[in-house]
Amino acid sequence: MLIRGRESKRAIIHKLLEDQIPSNLSSYIPHSWWYIGDILIVSVPKQLLNFKHILGEVFLQVEQGKARSVFGKVGPTRDIIRTPEFVFLAGDTNSETIHKELGGQFKIDAAKLTFSPGNHGERKRLIDIVQKNEFIVDMFSCVGNLSLPLAINNEPKKIVAVEINPLAYRYLEQNIKLNKVENRMIAIFGDNRTVLSEYHGQADRVLFGYFNGDNQQKRLAIRLCKKGGMVHFHEIIQAKEKETDKMIKQIAVIIEQETISDMDIAFKRVKKISPGMNHIVFDVKIN
Ligand SMILES: C[S@@+](CC[C@H](N)C(=O)[O-])C[C@H]1O[C@@H](n2cnc3c(N)ncnc32)[C@H](O)[C@@H]1O
Repeated sequence: MLIRGRESKRAIIHKLLEDQIPSNLSSYIPHSWWYIGDILIVSVPKQLLNFKHILGEVFLQVEQGKARSVFGKVGPTRDIIRTPEFVFLAGDTNSETIHKELGGQFKIDAAKLTFSPGNHGERKRLIDIVQKNEFIVDMFSCVGNLSLPLAINNEPKKIVAVEINPLAYRYLEQNIKLNKVENRMIAIFGDNRTVLSEYHGQADRVLFGYFNGDNQQKRLAIRLCKKGGMVHFHEIIQAKEKETDKMIKQIAVIIEQETISDMDIAFKRVKKISPGMNHIVFDVKIN
């Protein structure tokens, strides 16, 4: 079945599912889906869990030729290593894939690791702002989500990418080779709190792509920067007025403790997480 356009696909998915699930559940049919490589991911509400394989088969049918597998996101991303909660729905059970984006190839196990399609704009923005010969530290690399595109599209002096999850680290190493950027990007396995001391005061840019970082890690990010360097802190912030001010104050306090004279700070929304919650990136320039 070759169907073009999301609207017509939505209508067909509804039609096919309405015949197979109780009518009182039809309002829970997912309206959106996304791809990591050829793995199609659908958010599955708990009301439809008993029908998850039916759901998967319908999506596979409608996305024929594009999706090799369908996995369902059934809960939030958990733990320090940010494991997403996915269940198999239909197609091939193997969730390893190669996602192509911004001139790069990201090999990843799409059901066990995070790669947010909503961060595409931020990945693109970084490519646009990074200058030639920068030394960049990616403190929370996963498979190279934020830093690999910079190694591929920019001409950094060096990128140091740290990852604590052995599975993500394995893919990070493979992706550096797959994209032939070994001459400008290295992967370090371990806890960023303990493996970066030799780089203090050297970074032009630090990527802090993690919502649960603690103050020790925020301090480290600032310590890694040279004068004039920049840290990109990612946070989930309530859309309420003044919530961004709290984060700015928190960063200002850390910077004051580090006895650095001054900072410039700007922020922008990366994506909406849920009603009232935004993913914000704070660009902090250390003067
Ligand atoms: C949510 S992912 C984000 C990936 C990427 N930075 C992005 O923004 O798309 C965060 C990654 O940081 C890793 N991580 C968490 N704590 C860490 C630590 N202390 N040291 C190194 N990596 C860590 C997790 O295993 C996970 O792969």
